[in-house]
Order: sequence, then C-alpha cells, then structure tokens
Amino acid sequence: MTSVTTYAIMREMPEVTNLADKMENQLPAELVNFMRVAGGIATKQGQSLYLVGGVVRDLLLGKANFDLDLVIEGNAIELAQQLAEIKLGKMTTHPQFNTAKIKWSKWSVDLATARAESYAKPGALPTVKPSSIESDLSRRDFTINTMAVCLNPNRYGELIDLYGGRDDLERRLIRILHERSFIDDATRIWRGVRYEQRLDFQMERNSLELLRRDTPMLGTISGDRIRYELECVFQEQEPEKVLRRAEELNVLQRLHPWLRGNGWLADKFKAARKRASPGLPPFGFYIALLAYHLSNEQSEHLISYLRLSKAVAQIVRDTAYIKTKLKALADPELSRSSIYRLLHSYSQPAIIANLLASESPVACQHIEIFLSELRYVKSALNGNDLIKMGVPTGPYIKEILQRLHQARLDRKVTSKQGEEELVKGWIAI
Ligand code: CTP
Repeated sequence: MTSVTTYAIMREMPEVTNLADKMENQLPAELVNFMRVAGGIATKQGQSLYLVGGVVRDLLLGKANFDLDLVIEGNAIELAQQLAEIKLGKMTTHPQFNTAKIKWSKWSVDLATARAESYAKPGALPTVKPSSIESDLSRRDFTINTMAVCLNPNRYGELIDLYGGRDDLERRLIRILHERSFIDDATRIWRGVRYEQRLDFQMERNSLELLRRDTPMLGTISGDRIRYELECVFQEQEPEKVLRRAEELNVLQRLHPWLRGNGWLADKFKAARKRASPGLPPFGFYIALLAYHLSNEQSEHLISYLRLSKAVAQIVRDTAYIKTKLKALADPELSRSSIYRLLHSYSQPAIIANLLASESPVACQHIEIFLSELRYVKSALNGNDLIKMGVPTGPYIKEILQRLHQARLDRKVTSKQGEEELVKGWIAI
C-alpha cells in the first residue's frame, strides 16, 4: 500500500486494561473454557492467540455477541488440529487462507492466522501474507473493530487497543484507519453505515468526508459482494434505518438510482417484521418492498446487478405482477374464486408484500382472505373418484376438477356428497 494519511493515531503506550471479568460475565462458560484451553495450547506451541473484532467491541459495549473470531500469530490450522484432537470440537480448514473453524454443540469459532493485506487494485479481494497481530489489526475497517484481547494464560484478558477503538466507542464514533480505506474496499461504506445505525453512532467527520468522496468506488465492487452487504443490512434489527442513511449519503442509489429509503419503506418494513415467522423470514418481504416502486425493467436491472438467486428474483418479479392485479383485487364484488385465480400462482412473500404496500382496503381484505382461507381450499373428490363415477379419462377430468375447486372456493358446495351431486349433474348433460 502507498503511504497514506492516518486518521486513527496508533498508540505508542496504550494503558493496560483487562477484560477477563467481562468475558467471564458476558460470554457462555463453554466459550470461555474454549478460549482458556486454546490460549494454553497456543502458549505450548510458542504462539500468541487473540480474540479480535466485533466480539471485543460488543464485550465493551455490553452487547451479546457469541461469534468468536480468534487470530493466532503462527498457524491457525495447527492450533485447530490440536483443539480437535482433544475433542474440543469438529474442525474444518481452509489451507489456502490458513483459517479453520471449530464447531461443537451450538457453538462455532473461527480461527485465522494473523495476516497483512494489500490490494492490487480498488475493489479487488486482497492479497494476504502471514504477519503479526499489529499488522492484522491495521488492515481492518474501523477503529471500533480493531481491538483484540490476548488469550495466552500469562496475558489472558489483556486488551490491545492500538487505534483508540475504546475512546471511539465512548465517543460513539465510526472512524476509518487511513484515508484509502474506502478506496481499498468500498464494501466498508455499507459496513460503516450499518454500524452507525445499529449502534446509534456517528461517522467521524473526516471519515464521513472520505465516505462521501469515495461512494463512486462502490462501482468497483462485484454485484455478489454488494448483494452480501445488502443481506447483512436485512439482518439488522431495523434495516430501514440503514437504508434511510444510505439514501441520504447517496449510497443506496448506487444499487439503483430509483431506490428510496424513505418513511414509506420504514413503515412497510416494520409491518413486514410483524408478518415474518421462522418459516417466512423477513428477507423476502424486504427485497420485494425495496424494489416495489421500480418498473419491470428497473427490477430486472437490479436482479441481474445483484445476481439475485432464482427464488429471490421470483419474489421481486411476482411482486411486480401482483401489483398489476391490485386494481382487479380492489373490486368489492370480486368472487372468492376470482381472488384465488388472481393470486394463487405467486410466492407468499410477494403476496404479503403487496398486502403491506396496497392502499386499497378492499384489495387488502381480499388478499387476507386468500392467505387465511382460499389457499387451503381443496375439493374432496380426486381424479380417481371421478373415473369411478364414470367420467371419461382425458382433459375432461382436469376441467371437472377445476370446476369443483371453483365451486368449493365460492362455497357453492361444502361436502363430498354435494360434490358428487354436482359431478353427476354435469356428466348427465
Ligand atoms: N473486516 C474489515 N473489513 C471488511 C470486513 C471485515 O476490516 N470489509 C474486519 C473487521 O475488523 C471485523 C472483522 O473483519 O470486525 C470481522 O468481520 P465481520 O464478521 O463482518 O464483522 P464483525 O465485526 O464480527 O461484526 P458484526 O458481525 O457484528 O457486524
């Protein structure tokens, strides 16, 4: 990396703070035990081991975060192998990155070898080489994410805060480490906005200026990486705040110039969370609502830029199709079978997104009827029953089944016997 102005001043003699008590009190005993054992093994291997990144930030903030990221000045895979040998968990390794993951019961810990990074060109993935904890921390995004805690027994709990991360936590500031940070990796623009809104912090003045200067660098990032950032936004408790700020900073418009993070979206996102369930996560609603006011052509552009998966792209497309049917759905005279016909072939998140977005109380009522009743309606007779009743095989069977289903939807028939009578009447004609 060329020489750059440093915004976060590296500390010569930081005061020694010990977080062992906080770790004991805030982290589950199994994780604390894991870190103590791992620290002991690292010492035997002559290596230094650290807890780093978001979990240290959240320990200091008193927020629950059990995603442990460990960095070793040495070899992460060797350490993981030893931990797996003493049956502390199941290991997977990525030798090309010199990283490993240990999993046991509901826990998962990431182990990485301390590394230095350089960027061949803006937006490219970095080239990495093994290094010291200091270089590892210096490559990171924001001061509040640069803190580490030593896990070796003789220094267990010792906080390493080279860039004033703790002060910035106290001042509630998001600060980059050097002036090329957003150029090296423009995904940090989205990350910064996300942290700012999640933690209710502010972007530090110089960092904000550089963020504004460097938003065009988002153009250097692949659609896949930007989609990942959007997925992270959608995992926040209140993604609408991030999107509002992203619009304010002209960051959202880099996804598509017509996207808005306004009050309408915020209201719809809040309502979407109330409709979400474990089987129906809010992600589908969020993307449908974000793209709601785009034309078909604009939606297609977003789908291909972000390389949305088939299923997610389908939600966006279905949302647009249903939108064209809202006028028909707003007819108070609409029969139950017509409501069914208008909605049944679309994905549920798209239907619910339209329910949330529609201005028409009648259309909303019809969509609710579809969701709560009509989509479950089935006729009692099947094709075999019809053949037994003397209906000739072939396309006629399908037609009769459809007519039966329609009669059921419109409550013209409510029992199997009633259906049989209807069929007898139809085949007698
Ligand atoms: N990181 C970085 N630049 C990025 C991505 C990540 O410097 N573009 C560093 C940060 O130090 C971050 C760490 O890698 O703390 C781990 O990244 P991630 O897991 O995305 O974030 P966490 O800090 O663990 O926080 P959270 O998941 O709470 O957002």
